[in-house]
Amino acid sequence: MTFKPAAWPRKLRSQEWFGGSGRDQIYHRGWMKNQGFPHDLFDGRPVIGILNTWSELTPCNAHLNVLVEKVKNGIYEAGGFPVEVPVFSASESAFRPTAMMFRNLAAMAVEEQMRGQPMDGCVLMVGCDKTTPSLLMAAASTDLPSIIVTGGPMLNGYYRNERVGSGTHLWKFSEAVKAGEMSQEEFAEAEASMSRSAGSCNTMGTASTMASMAEALGMALSGNAAIPAVDSRRRVMAQLTGRRIVQMVKDDLKPSDVLTKQAFENAIRTNAAIGGSTNAVIHLLAIAGRVGVDLTLEDWDRCGRDVPTIVNLMPSGKYLMEEFFYAGGLPAVIKRLGESSLLHKEALTVSGETMWDQVKDVVNHNDDVILPKERALAQSGGVVVLKGNLAPNGAVLKPSAASPHLMVHRGRAVVFEDIDDYKAKINDEALDIDETCVMVLKNCGPKGYPGMAEVGNMGLPPKVLRKGITDMVRISDARMSGTAYGTVCLHTSPEAAAGGPLAVVQNGDMIELDVPNRRLHLDISDAELQARLAAWKPRHERYEGGYAWLHQTHVEGADTGADLDFLKGCRGAPVGKDSH
Ligand code: FES
Repeated sequence: MTFKPAAWPRKLRSQEWFGGSGRDQIYHRGWMKNQGFPHDLFDGRPVIGILNTWSELTPCNAHLNVLVEKVKNGIYEAGGFPVEVPVFSASESAFRPTAMMFRNLAAMAVEEQMRGQPMDGCVLMVGCDKTTPSLLMAAASTDLPSIIVTGGPMLNGYYRNERVGSGTHLWKFSEAVKAGEMSQEEFAEAEASMSRSAGSCNTMGTASTMASMAEALGMALSGNAAIPAVDSRRRVMAQLTGRRIVQMVKDDLKPSDVLTKQAFENAIRTNAAIGGSTNAVIHLLAIAGRVGVDLTLEDWDRCGRDVPTIVNLMPSGKYLMEEFFYAGGLPAVIKRLGESSLLHKEALTVSGETMWDQVKDVVNHNDDVILPKERALAQSGGVVVLKGNLAPNGAVLKPSAASPHLMVHRGRAVVFEDIDDYKAKINDEALDIDETCVMVLKNCGPKGYPGMAEVGNMGLPPKVLRKGITDMVRISDARMSGTAYGTVCLHTSPEAAAGGPLAVVQNGDMIELDVPNRRLHLDISDAELQARLAAWKPRHERYEGGYAWLHQTHVEGADTGADLDFLKGCRGAPVGKDSH
């Protein structure tokens, strides 16, 4: 840790708008006063933008409009001036074609809101899957002092006395309906039981994973990730976060001080320990690209290999975020990494302390939720990076969510050219498929879908499910929901729509998956593969205009984070010319 706090007091960037008695300053300040702000709030104290992703169409964040009051209290208490700013909110459950297409748009919009307005520091109020990475990407690109507070997970769901997890049980129940084991009426009854309180998904899905990543990166106060949305301690966390950002501005503690290579390695190892979502791979690569840290897919495989998955949460395990919080939450997991020499202890956090200082005294209160190493869900829990002639730039697989008996598998390809082709064929009893086959889905990557939807864990055909089979090897260039499970090879790069080898797989080809040797191989000759690639023609529709065109034209591959090429890097937050 080499951070040295800046001298205080000093002139802050907000004073370019609010300080002095010129016409422009009176214009900026005077209009603000129509909200009843006293004159002394403009006296040079830190102006904190509370970037709020509240939206009634982002149900996981719909309580942030209440939580924000606690953040404001904390900022006032510490001598700052809070200003709440609504920002682009990409809802996982409602945005089409997929929220992922809008992660970069949100990041771009928020970056400009941070840079173009009088803010000295920011509180990022997030929760649902894409809201967390998009705001972290924006903060990394402006490098204004920033801190995350998430909305927290929903309370446990229960259906007929059975613990049910967001997403995870949606997939399970829908497969049960297809297999004839559950009625449509029972499915509808289960629906309400899954979402019984405010908050984000209560499994270790992408939202909980990204909240954990923010904490493991050092961008949130310790303990933030697991506190349930409706627990009073979530409100305390919001208030403490508000207090902390004011001091961060005074100290000039910026994202670039926290988001170091060491911080990303801590986050990757944490992701392995919690059995986190494969979506974290894409998001952390994108955040690293914004702050200028050289992070690669190989780093994911290298750092995750020695880390056991010790958090017994769905979809890999049994419990939900509420129990994780009661057991000690993420600090107890990070402490275990530190005790196993798997943590850069000296990594700086937004608290101003090191990561180790934050966690060294915490206690694990339930070793059935946070497991001892001997009972780990997977001894090598890190995201596996597969390579081979089918994925020259890589594909990923989550071992803790996969079936051990399928980790080495050779099977006949059953190909779906796109998601519509899959939907049209999967329920057809005449489809030539059994459980030994490898399901291949194309054209669902960043350019192809477009946006890289969470369709990689495609449901199995009913005739296989009726045999009691619940998993098959599946390969695609899509993503998978963090709440899902299965032996699923995802993010295959280059994607089919960009002419990757996935595009030329044919029905009947043999495919070999070898997880221990990190291999994904299409068993045809090099000459045959080259001939097929030479004959390949792009098939996906191109958009003529609008954001979809911008996305399709500029999005990069999943192997580097699927950011837009022109948004990578840190542009800082210089104060531009006055617009009046
Ligand atoms: Fe919003 Fe899961 S859909 S957190």
